Amino acid sequence: MVRQVLIFILLPVANKSYLKMMNLRTDYMGLKLKNPIIAASSGLTGTLEGIVSMEKNGAAAVVIKSIFEEEILLEANQQVKEAEENPMIYSALSETLDYIDLHIREDNLEKFLDLISDAKKAVTIPVIGSINCVSGEDWIHFTKKMEEAGADALELNIFLNPADFNNKEFEKAYFRIIEKVLAVIKIPVAIKISKYFTRLGLSVKALSETGLAGIVMFNRFYTPDIDIESMSLSTSKIFSTQEEQYETLRWMAIMSAKVSCDLAASTGIHSGEDVIKMLLAGAKVTQIASTLYKNGPKVIGKILQKIEHWMSGKGFDSIEQFRGKVSREYGEDPAAFERMQFMKNFSEIR
Ligand SMILES: Cc1cc2nc3c(=O)[nH]c(=O)nc-3n(C[C@H](O)[C@H](O)[C@H](O)COP(=O)(O)O)c2cc1C
Repeated sequence: MVRQVLIFILLPVANKSYLKMMNLRTDYMGLKLKNPIIAASSGLTGTLEGIVSMEKNGAAAVVIKSIFEEEILLEANQQVKEAEENPMIYSALSETLDYIDLHIREDNLEKFLDLISDAKKAVTIPVIGSINCVSGEDWIHFTKKMEEAGADALELNIFLNPADFNNKEFEKAYFRIIEKVLAVIKIPVAIKISKYFTRLGLSVKALSETGLAGIVMFNRFYTPDIDIESMSLSTSKIFSTQEEQYETLRWMAIMSAKVSCDLAASTGIHSGEDVIKMLLAGAKVTQIASTLYKNGPKVIGKILQKIEHWMSGKGFDSIEQFRGKVSREYGEDPAAFERMQFMKNFSEIR
């Protein structure tokens, strides 16, 4: 009996993989993270309970739900009303105004800053502030307040409309906004971009050389659908599917060895396998939102388990041992690689 108990106690210790501690640590924007999973900016990170729940379930950092530039510019309800009455001022922002009309309160900004400072007291993981902006205007002073409230870093979701036919200097606006923000705050700054850039590769490289600490690729636009019965536009799906990850994966693999700042992967990342792919493509971290909504915050534990299991099977004990491995094979000449695969796979299909 005593022998059986001893075997029972000692067996797991004798098992080498049991002894091996997985190191999932990663650095992102100078922040030391315990693993590569960040809860992306969404409604789930817009409350203190939500942020605490992300930490409890294993997230390494959170990006707080964005405050909108328009909310900063139009602090009071009265100003919103004036703007509504004067469509000339905000004609380009009518959709956002609907949002503001629903949500803005006089003390909205104060609440937003309180959320940052309360989160800093309630969790030990880094808290990243987020602003959704469309111009390089008067809102920039607000980034200082976010820094003072304790944000560990700032993410700018720069939303320039690629279908704006009047905006002739689309890309230049990004550089102007970044320059202004970097002049005001000392915490690391990332931008979250869409893939609608001319010469995306060159643009991402140039953005990475501005002094930014990180670039999040990519923001997800809500794509419209058409209802053929009513023959009108209908709302698209709010949450992503896993199929949407491949553009992120491709560009992560192309860019990760070429940029001068850290890259975060976003869109369509739902499982441990998806995170592993992004790391192999060279991402420093992944940001997830839809899978948290669809599967609940406990999915973070499952993702981490999968990464550990995969690393153990491959004999890796740190992420650095395999980060960017596939990018090095693919990133040098992706067009040639894709053409070769295309010829190999499709030339015999009749
Ligand atoms: C309900 C919801 C709210 C979101 N709110 C924001 C936001 O305030 N700011 C932002 O930068 N991104 C926001 N996002 C985008 C996510 O941060 C993320 O970039 C996008 O959903 C793609 O990741 P996913 O495929 O994991 O969902 C939101 C996404 C969802 C689903």
